Order: sequence, then C-alpha cells, then structure tokens
Amino acid sequence: MTQSLTIRRPDDWHLHLRDGAMLAAVLPETARHFARAIIMPNLVPPVVTGAQAAAYRGRILAALPEGMTFEPLMTLYLTEQTDPDDLAAAHARGLITSVKLYPAGATTNSASGVKDFDKVRPVLERMAEIGCPLCVHGEVTDREIDIFDREAVFIDRVLDPIRRATPGLRVIMEHITTKDGVDYVASHSEGLGATITVQHLMFDRNDMLVGGMRPHYYCLPILKRRQHREALVAAATSGDARYFLGTDSAPHPTHAKEAECCAAGCFTAPIALSCLAHVFEEAGALDKLEGFTSLHGPAFYGLPVNADTITLSKLDPLDIPKTLPVGEHTVTVFDPGFPLHWRVTG
Ligand code: NCD
Ligand code: ZN
Ligand code: ZN
Repeated sequence: MTQSLTIRRPDDWHLHLRDGAMLAAVLPETARHFARAIIMPNLVPPVVTGAQAAAYRGRILAALPEGMTFEPLMTLYLTEQTDPDDLAAAHARGLITSVKLYPAGATTNSASGVKDFDKVRPVLERMAEIGCPLCVHGEVTDREIDIFDREAVFIDRVLDPIRRATPGLRVIMEHITTKDGVDYVASHSEGLGATITVQHLMFDRNDMLVGGMRPHYYCLPILKRRQHREALVAAATSGDARYFLGTDSAPHPTHAKEAECCAAGCFTAPIALSCLAHVFEEAGALDKLEGFTSLHGPAFYGLPVNADTITLSKLDPLDIPKTLPVGEHTVTVFDPGFPLHWRVTG
C-alpha cells in the first residue's frame, strides 16, 4: 500500500547557499522542494549592508536554473558597525526579511559578529520599532564554557537580557538543540519562535562520536544528548506554531569536512523532507508535518503560506547521491545511515 501525504509547499527558515560554484550546485536542491528560504548572510566577507544583500539576492536569482522558481528572503549580518538607517531602509523596501546575530567566533564565518552586545542595542531598538525580526545563533563563545553548555548559557546570559531590554523585538532562536531551548520558548510566548534542523531531530552526540567520529554529522550548535533530541522532536511534532523548520543546510566542500579540523555544517537540503517525514511518522505525528514545514514559519514572519502543494510518498528506499559536484570538488550529502522511504513525488 502506498502511503502519501499532500501538504502546502514548505519553506526553509534557515539556509546557507554560499556563493559562486557552491551556490550554483546547491540552490536547485532547495528550490526543487521549497518555495522560499531565509538566506544566511555569513559569506566571506559577510552581507552587512542593504546594497550587499541586493547584490547577493541578484546572484542567487541568476544561479537559479531555467524553469525553477524560488524566493530568497534576505538577511543582514549584524555587526557592531551596522547602520540602523541602512537596515531600516532595506527592510522598508522589502529587501531584507530579518537580521542575523552571530556572537563573534561562535560558528562558521562569524569573525565579524558581535562581541559587545551593548554596542548593538540601538540597532535592536530600531528593529523592534520597525518590526524587523532578529535571527539568533544562540551560543556563548567563552572558552571556559563547555561546548555542550553553550546554548543554555547563552539563553541566560545574552538572549534573555536582550529580550528584556528590547520589548517588542521579535526573535527567532535559530537551530535550537537543547531542552533548555525548548523550555525557554515554551515559557516566553511573546514574539519568540525557534527553528529546528533535520539533524538535531534525528541524531544525538552518540551518533556522531561512538565507534569513530563522523565529520558529516558535525555542525554547530553541536549534537547534544538523547534527552535533548527527544525534547526537540516533541516540540517539532507538537503542532505548537512557535517551532518551525530551518534546515540549516550548510554545505562545505568534502575536503573541508573530512579534514584534520572539520568545518561545521551538514548539507541536508536534498533529503530534508524525506528525513522529516521519517521523523514525524516515527513520532506518530505525520499530521503535524505540514504545520512545521509550511504553516508556522509564514505565520511567525507575517507572510502568506504558499499557494501550491507537494506530495510525499512512502516507496522503496530512496537512492541518495553520496556527493554533488562543485567545480573540481564535491559536497557530501548528509546520509542518515539507514534507508529513507519517503520522497517528494509531486
Ligand atoms: C553553519 C555554516 O556552515 O555556515 N554551520 C553550522 O554548523 N550550522 C553556520 C551556522 O549556522 O552556525
Ligand atoms: Zn548558526
Ligand atoms: Zn546556519
């Protein structure tokens, strides 16, 4: 018996497309299934001005293959030098959808991020005024804080104070990875949402570390204990509109992943929806998939849901390509290590 499920076309509320050859290689993998995505600005150099966001948007649209449609929702990378007027002008003309806060040094390409959160207070106040939401990579970077505790400590030391000091600022906690993150969202409803990735719903740190280190499962924030994964699955499959999909699909060349110092990021775009259908089915919550992938994100961002639909079907195991070519290199596709039966069929 074929099982199938038709849902509104999904969006990805946290996506890395990169630039140049990598952009051209990975963009179709997202555009094939997703109508829109929030495009992360952590290029080298980062996208910090409205003019840079406009230029990057142009490069994304130029890389889109004939016949595909896709709407990149642009973001600005917040720095201590961000000009509130430039930001407000970009937001007013619909060029940017949100602004991204990276604590300096927290993750891939975050060297220009914020060190002193007081320095960005005027920008955050302006954003609250004009209704521009803030996407946050929520980890502290202090060396003395254990990598597995960095999200929880960030919530207490940085996020909660920012939200208290800036009432009205809408915040998206990107890629939450802990029960602490879920609990914080659950107890602070006003203007707070959270994205959850595919890999954090599927795996815990044992999957990455037991029996050998699997570099393609290494991302930031790092995979946590099983009980955190269970809290994320419960949140994602609950139907609560504060949680929505942000794949954080983050391609790196295979040689940068399979290296002495492995780059952080999982390239999940090609199989994200197959993985999610698997996770939601296991949780007995296939009826909640559409909310997570297609309804809650637009509601949080105040955007219409997509008009068309996609159909997922449960069939023979999906043939997943190991890699995609990127110029003379490759990017390795996230492999869950077991057969996936769900695929997008229409
Ligand atoms: C992202 C990347 O590669 O740009 N990496 C990751 O591990 N998630 C950056 C980020 O989202 O933190
Ligand atoms: Zn991040
Ligand atoms: Zn990311």
